[in-house]
Amino acid sequence: MTNELSERDDVDIDALPLAQDRGVGWQALRDAGAVCPAGESFILTSADAVDEAAKAPTVFSSRRAFDRLGSPLALIPIGTDPPDHTRYRRLLDPFFSPKRMAEREPQLRQSAAELIDAIAVRGQCELITDLATPYPSDVFLGLFGLPLRDRDRLNQWKDSILEFTSPSATKPSPEVLTHALELFTYLSEHITRRRQDNSGDDLLTRLIKTRDEGGLSDEDILGLCFLFVLAGLDTVTAALGFAFGRLAQDPSLRRQLAEDESLIPAFIEELLRTDGPVPFAPRVTTEDVEVDGILLPKDTTVLMSYGCANRDPDRYDDADELHVGERVPHFAFGKGPHRCLGSHLARMELRIILEEWHRRIPEYSLADGFEPQVLWPSGTLGLDAVPLVFMPPSEMTSSATQRR
Ligand code: HEM
Repeated sequence: MTNELSERDDVDIDALPLAQDRGVGWQALRDAGAVCPAGESFILTSADAVDEAAKAPTVFSSRRAFDRLGSPLALIPIGTDPPDHTRYRRLLDPFFSPKRMAEREPQLRQSAAELIDAIAVRGQCELITDLATPYPSDVFLGLFGLPLRDRDRLNQWKDSILEFTSPSATKPSPEVLTHALELFTYLSEHITRRRQDNSGDDLLTRLIKTRDEGGLSDEDILGLCFLFVLAGLDTVTAALGFAFGRLAQDPSLRRQLAEDESLIPAFIEELLRTDGPVPFAPRVTTEDVEVDGILLPKDTTVLMSYGCANRDPDRYDDADELHVGERVPHFAFGKGPHRCLGSHLARMELRIILEEWHRRIPEYSLADGFEPQVLWPSGTLGLDAVPLVFMPPSEMTSSATQRR
């Protein structure tokens, strides 16, 4: 077993040029080696190394890996290891299966249509604020049977807590802890109410009912809801931002998708591969372990770079380019037992928005002279703003009539 770590340069994650160019940024990390030191952590950069670690949860543990998020309770299931994790996933997977999610499609589609209809008449919007942020929040609130009027509060809590998901962040501030506590109290109150009246058909009620069969405790459900807020909102916002940022600048691809909706799922997969919102996922080693010839001692924090693995030229041909063709498996939803529980939901949200939008607004472009900026450093990789301009549907009809 070799140990060349001391000879390797420390990587400064925050200084990676990901904001300027993800291809260059991930290549810079790859150049530092398949395993490279970054402060007190070590980063796994190659697709093979990430695959290996993600699929070995007993050695690369999640149990203490998320402690710095300052969650007042265990993050279920992401902060657990097998056998607990296996039990949670067995219970939860059926609730998030493609079939169960498809049952929710009409509700999600209606919510998308309402937001997009309101935007379409205006002729311009800022995609992140007007659609990519409210939509996943509305989906979360709708699925869990929570009041839609709570959207802004929810987003505020989430924003504050997520400030600390950057891989280089240290300790949560008192303000973050207060917001975490407010979210915790909000969710606890709703769980208590749902215990008193469990006549609804929402996900929260269904999860609560599992307790009677020895399933999830109230504390488990709280941890799970807390995680959904942290894992299921900003990720979808970021993916929508990247999707519209790219399509606004690529008229030929945009027209292809607008004319043939069946291409949208393949576009989404490649978008997630090339610009996945989750750049890193942490683990802590439970024993000495060798990866790519490098010894990682027990209790080492390891950051698996899903972002870098997704553009590994040894795994993907022409890795930096987005190809709307055959679907290729990717790392955007993670690998191994912690693979994203909400992947089917996320895919459906993205597909519905892209379909509903292009049915109403097939032609659009970025506001004059605007270049969307990638937010980096950040726990979630996304764009700062995507201001779009387009012709409102009424004007499209009148200009078409005039042409006749
Ligand atoms: C495009 C959107 C999304 C992306 C890119 C994404 C990405 C990921 C990734 C990479 C992981 C694995 C983390 C790890 O290995 O430690 C993960 C886990 C998870 N995600 Fe997502 N996610 C998305 C949307 C969602 C949504 C909408 C939900 C809500 C239902 C969700 C819930 C979860 C949960 C609960 C886990 C933990 C699974 C486990 O530990 O077994 N995600 N996600």
